[in-house]
Parts: sequence; C-alpha cells; structure tokens
Amino acid sequence: MFYNIDCITGAQKYLEDGSVDLIITDPPYGIDGDKLHRHYNRNESNVLDGYVEVPLNEYEEFSLKWIKEAERVLRPGGSIYIVSGYTNLIHILNALKATNLKEINHIIWKYNFGVYTKNKYISSHYHILYYVKPGKKPTFNTFARYGDSEKNENNGSLNYQDREDVWVINREYKPNKTKNKNELPWELLIKMIQYSSNPGDLVCDFFLGSLSTAKVAIGLNRKATGFEISKIAFDYQIKEMEKIQDGFLIPSLRKPSKTKFINSGKPLTESEKASFQTEFLELISKGKTKKQSIEILSEKYLRGYWSILKIIDGTTNKSSLKNQINKYSNETLFI
Ligand SMILES: C[S@@+](CC[C@H](N)C(=O)[O-])C[C@H]1O[C@@H](n2cnc3c(N)ncnc32)[C@H](O)[C@@H]1O
Repeated sequence: MFYNIDCITGAQKYLEDGSVDLIITDPPYGIDGDKLHRHYNRNESNVLDGYVEVPLNEYEEFSLKWIKEAERVLRPGGSIYIVSGYTNLIHILNALKATNLKEINHIIWKYNFGVYTKNKYISSHYHILYYVKPGKKPTFNTFARYGDSEKNENNGSLNYQDREDVWVINREYKPNKTKNKNELPWELLIKMIQYSSNPGDLVCDFFLGSLSTAKVAIGLNRKATGFEISKIAFDYQIKEMEKIQDGFLIPSLRKPSKTKFINSGKPLTESEKASFQTEFLELISKGKTKKQSIEILSEKYLRGYWSILKIIDGTTNKSSLKNQINKYSNETLFI
C-alpha cells in the first residue's frame, strides 16, 4: 500500500510497531530553491512539478520526528538506509543519535553529473547512513551478489570490492522521459535491497518520490509500502506502478557463484585453530608468503581468508610465532 500523505502522520496511522523489515529513504534536503533538478535532468519540461521541500528552519525538528517514527516501525534487526546530501547531514546524524538505532556503516555514494564549480572542488557524492534496530540479528546477505571466491582481473575479491563503503554508481540519464527530481538509480536500490532483505520482506520508503524504492523492491519479490506528500508526483507514479510486475528484475541479476568456503560461519574447533598455526609455519618455512600460506589453508579447510588470518594474527603465543616466522621469511609480517 502507498499513501499520498505526510510520512509522519502516515506512519502513525498505517504502520504498526515493528512491522517493517527494511527502510530505504531519501528525504528532501532542506535546500530552499535548489536548482539541482535543472542540472541533473537538463530538460525541465520532463521533471514532474510538485516536489515538496522542507523549510530549512523546520528541518531539524522534522528529521527528529520522521526518524523516530522510522525507528518505531522497524522490526528488531531491521535495517534503515538514509540518503543525504552534506548540507543538512548534521540534522540527520543528530536525529539518528537520539534513537536506539545502531550505526553500521557511513557509506559514500559517488555519482556522475556533479554540479560544476570553478574555484572549488566539485561536489559529487552523497552520504548513505546505514543503521540497524537492535534486538535481533540483522539481515545481511554477504554473498547475495558475489561469491566468496570470485575475482576481478587483478585477482582481487569481487565480494570484498562490492562491500567496500564507497559506491561508485552513476545516475541514470533518462533523456525525454518524465521523471521526479533526484530519482535514485535503480542499481543503488538493488544493492541495498539484496544485501539487507529477503524475498517477501516489507520494504518501506518514507519519501517515495518516483516510487523507485517500491518499484525495485517489487521487482525483487519483496513487498513495498511508503508515503509521498506531493499529489502530482503520487498520482503520476501510482499509475506507473501498475506496469511493475513481481520479480521482474530477478532475471537481470548476476548470479553469484556458490560459496566455495562451505565451512564459513561454523564455529572453529581448537584442533582446527592449532592446525592453522602449525601448517602456517610449515608453509612459511617452505618459502611461501603470509598471503599465499593463508590462501592454501583457506582452500584446504574451506574457510574464508579473513577467518584464518584472524587466528594466525590473534595467536596467543604471538612472540614465539613471530620469531619463528622471522626465521623463515624476510617478509614484513604484521603479527
Ligand atoms: C529526494 S525526493 C525522493 C526521491 C525518491 N527517492 C526517488 O528515487 O524518486 C523526496 C520526496 O519527498 C517528498 N516529501 C517531502 N516532504 C514529505 C513528507 N513530509 N512526507 C512524505 N513525502 C514528502 C517530496 O515531495 C519528494 O518527492
């Protein structure tokens, strides 16, 4: 269900406590008379009228109120992603601080079409604040997009790369199409939804705009709800929504290779830990580097690289291990 109503009143009226699995939202930025839509969308006639801005002097209070509501409707373990520019970021951060929500990541989204400036740096990023509601284990589908052994052309882990907290995702350039001001790219929404929800989960957007969050959520077989105060935007987009089919995005998703490290996540036994240490030293003594040795152990024990590194680095007998390694290797080892 989608509601053409102010999100604070709407949430109070229509959403029960703990009923939402994931919130992804992009509130108005509190910048009076901004010209961003002119810049991003170039042809003004394609931009829908009716984007409602929040006056700057009300922004702090407004942020406190809607974020408090977001916290209430989120289930324990549910996640929230808030996209914000820099100008009024402080109010969003302060409002989050006034809740019990827990910060997980402060993501930087780097986009194209930054507003050109001559005598200073060009602003080309947004902030995405990723928080969770305590009380249950949050959903985080680590291998939803890339398997743990998939590599890029430089032999780097694609999974690691995809989960770094700087995201380079371009805005969609939609020439001659009607759009809302500041529409989020679908690629960005797909990423957050894949990592932080499962099919059938309820995804909510407090500031629907073009209903992009809802369209992508439904396209990924999730359920969707949310609020948009502008009647012009709402009436136009709700019709567009009728064209959206459950799961329509699924065939276009890349299929991650199955996890090779089937033992990841299983508790480590003491004998396994001891084997890591002795076998690691043997490998070093045969001239392998620290990285190579851990990779060999990872293949053998079907556990991820980092969990083995943690055992090697966290070994109780640090100084003796360090001495033995130094005996065998000239490599600088950070143990
Ligand atoms: C930055 S845009 C969201 C864009 C959206 N994420 C998209 O991809 O199209 C913010 C939206 O919030 C709407 N809005 C402003 N105040 C609101 C309120 N109190 N409740 C609900 N929506 C509101 C604006 O009209 C605007 O459409």
